[in-house]
Amino acid sequence: MASTVIKGGTVVTADLSHDADVRIENGVITGIGPGLTGDTVLDATGCYVMPGGIDPHTHLEMPFMGTYSSDDFESGTRAAMSGGTTMVVDFVLPGQGQGLMDAAQMWHNKSTRAHCDYSYHMAITWWGQQVWEDMEASVKAGITSFKHFMAYKGALMVNDDEMFQSFKRVGDLGGLAMVHAENGDVVAELTARLIAEGNTGPEAHAYSRPPQVEGEATNRAIMIADMAGVPLYVVHTSCEEAHEAIRRARAQGKRVWGEPLIQHLTLDESEYFHPDWDHAARRVMSPPFRSKAHQASLWAGLQSGSLSVVATDHCAFTTEQKRFGLKSFAQIPNGTGGLEDRMPMLWTHGVNTGRLTPNEFVAVTSTNIAKILNCYPKKGAVLVGADADLVVWDPKAEKTISAATQQSAIDYNVFEGQKVVGLPRYTLSRGRVGYADGAVIPQEGHGEFVAREARPAVNRALSAWKDLTAPRPVQRSGMSATGV
Ligand code: URP
Ligand code: ZN
Ligand code: ZN
Ligand code: ZN
Repeated sequence: MASTVIKGGTVVTADLSHDADVRIENGVITGIGPGLTGDTVLDATGCYVMPGGIDPHTHLEMPFMGTYSSDDFESGTRAAMSGGTTMVVDFVLPGQGQGLMDAAQMWHNKSTRAHCDYSYHMAITWWGQQVWEDMEASVKAGITSFKHFMAYKGALMVNDDEMFQSFKRVGDLGGLAMVHAENGDVVAELTARLIAEGNTGPEAHAYSRPPQVEGEATNRAIMIADMAGVPLYVVHTSCEEAHEAIRRARAQGKRVWGEPLIQHLTLDESEYFHPDWDHAARRVMSPPFRSKAHQASLWAGLQSGSLSVVATDHCAFTTEQKRFGLKSFAQIPNGTGGLEDRMPMLWTHGVNTGRLTPNEFVAVTSTNIAKILNCYPKKGAVLVGADADLVVWDPKAEKTISAATQQSAIDYNVFEGQKVVGLPRYTLSRGRVGYADGAVIPQEGHGEFVAREARPAVNRALSAWKDLTAPRPVQRSGMSATGV
């Protein structure tokens, strides 16, 4: 059996750093320790050997706002590998009236060219008996997390009553409820008003989705999840209002996680006031970029543990696609890229500044989400028996981010011109070197679907507590129902 050894590096996991070699056979880690030998040696001198990144929020070839996002599973996972990410979790988006498993099959058809492993979340985009039934089939097929859009009224948005029904079903099935938390009714009204007043440029996108609408929806989702007895994952947490709701819920013992994006951590609302329309429109996403004060809140959340995961929401549209909205910001396809930049940008702005330790970096880019999504320690770990999804990270390597050299299929990069210090030397997907010394070594179709099991420990704990504290009638003696 051919073996690979990563030699001379420091293994960095979410809870430990230690000098050790790592041996890989048949795609899994078979040894960790000093003096290991193997058929192929990868030099990790001066490097950290970490679990490959997991980006739990991507939209590859996503049908949205009259078009499709331009990175598909081929270019998207190529971009991921070049940036040290070895697994993506994409959202299956059933059309109105479409069965969930029919939509899942469409996603399986799209993902055949992936360079690294992938898993799916299921979006609940409409509600009815068939969806309720299909949710069980989804869980059985390894898709155990269910996303609900509280925004995009008239398209993907679900109402509170539908969300409550769905959350209860997710809870019963032992899955994870997820939300895009923005008050879609208020956003729709603000959007209409801004356009009527002549505010049609991309800067108005930010005015149409202020932090309050995100904070309100986050609170509402937390309440509904609590009533339904289901754990909740809030995607793209961008502001203090939403973070405060998550922080408070966690302090109350609720099982709630928040996911800031690398874009929200490092880019601010001033981008929308750029004199170049294209520059501003390329950065239109929901929620929009916020002020520096909100950024500080998100960093503090990662440091203190009230926010758990850094993702990208990679949903890349070309400049040509963004120009669908030249007449009105409401027609600009929402979304930005970031898959290949998440790890270097977070290392540069997180670890190099002292905001995060290397171990905390591993936690928020890989291990935490592997645990939340119940694929740990297959993913997110450097342990014997774990998949050899690894990144050999050179903390001294540097580059300047540029669309000219990126893997992503689009014609710009929202981080253009940013210098990053800390880059992958090697990225391995199940033991296969897919990126080495600045070059992708592509293998279309190497990526495999990661099926996840329902009912992780946190769901079992939550349902035990819910059962224990459920309302029960008081047994009174000597009285009948008529009160006599
Ligand atoms: O603007 C965004 N975030 N586009 C992708 C879809 C979503 O809301 O996550
Ligand atoms: Zn969203
Ligand atoms: Zn998204
Ligand atoms: Zn392979």
